[in-house]
Amino acid sequence: MPSLRDVLTTAVNRLTASHVPSPRLNAELLLMFTLDCDRAYLFAHPERELSMEEQARYDGALAERVRGVPAQYITGHQEFWGMDFVVTPAVLIPRPETEHVIETVLRLRAAGEGARPTQALRIVDVGTGSGCIALALAKELPQAEVEIHATDISSAALEIARVNAARLQLDGRVQFHETDLLQGLEPGSFDFVVSNPPYVGESEEDQVQLEVRKFEPRLAVFAGATGLEVILRLIPQARLVLKPGGWLVMEISGTIADGVRGLFDGWDDVQVTNDLQGIPRVVSARTAC
Ligand SMILES: C[S@@+](CC[C@H](N)C(=O)[O-])C[C@H]1O[C@@H](n2cnc3c(N)ncnc32)[C@H](O)[C@@H]1O
Repeated sequence: MPSLRDVLTTAVNRLTASHVPSPRLNAELLLMFTLDCDRAYLFAHPERELSMEEQARYDGALAERVRGVPAQYITGHQEFWGMDFVVTPAVLIPRPETEHVIETVLRLRAAGEGARPTQALRIVDVGTGSGCIALALAKELPQAEVEIHATDISSAALEIARVNAARLQLDGRVQFHETDLLQGLEPGSFDFVVSNPPYVGESEEDQVQLEVRKFEPRLAVFAGATGLEVILRLIPQARLVLKPGGWLVMEISGTIADGVRGLFDGWDDVQVTNDLQGIPRVVSARTAC
């Protein structure tokens, strides 16, 4: 029976030969998944032998990764905001840069925005996917002070968001709606509209990683020919459901940042924040009071 050290070395070589990025990281991650253990265990037990069944499962996981399937769809998990999210090919894999949306909302909230001494703060997350934004905000903001809604047009995505709410013991904290953007939500009733909408243009499809194009939901990634199509509809709908002085906080990309700025005519305090790589990542804007 091969040892854990031997199977890891073979796996790293196999992934390297197949041009899988970060081969060691992927090999370790998939072995941890196969053996249901943490990284410390891998290093503490290099002589541990794998059973035939474990080897077969590890081989299967490596074959999937070589085929281009993202590791998160193989393991079924992705961490976001320090929380463990279940992911399937029905939802976008949450990205670290999306945490800037959470940070922006919490910063505005800490500055007293959206404060209503006698009423709960109302937030809606548009295109919730795995539920990562809505559930991270539910974790951060006390139940007594906030009412959180989340929408998605994909029933399969909402199913995963509900699973995540239950697993994270946040069920009951978010009300999920299957709808197109903000259709059917009460006008003039929200303090914050937050969203990581689809914003990639079909014209830039060639520049999108093959793994994303092949395995992540097209509806979650691509917006239309230019990338602005969903945002173009979202901004006026957000204006309609926000209270006077309410905020829209939305993830964007460097490619569309200038185009997006031009769509906020008549809004106040329009601000674009860069991510850690200096790429425009979050736009926030306030409706007139
Ligand atoms: C970029 S993903 C974001 C998922 C998640 N919020 C995140 O940050 O990881 C966009 C999400 O918007 C949803 N979506 C696409 N078009 C939509 C529409 N017209 N109305 C509601 N949701 C939509 C997709 O199904 C997908 O879940």
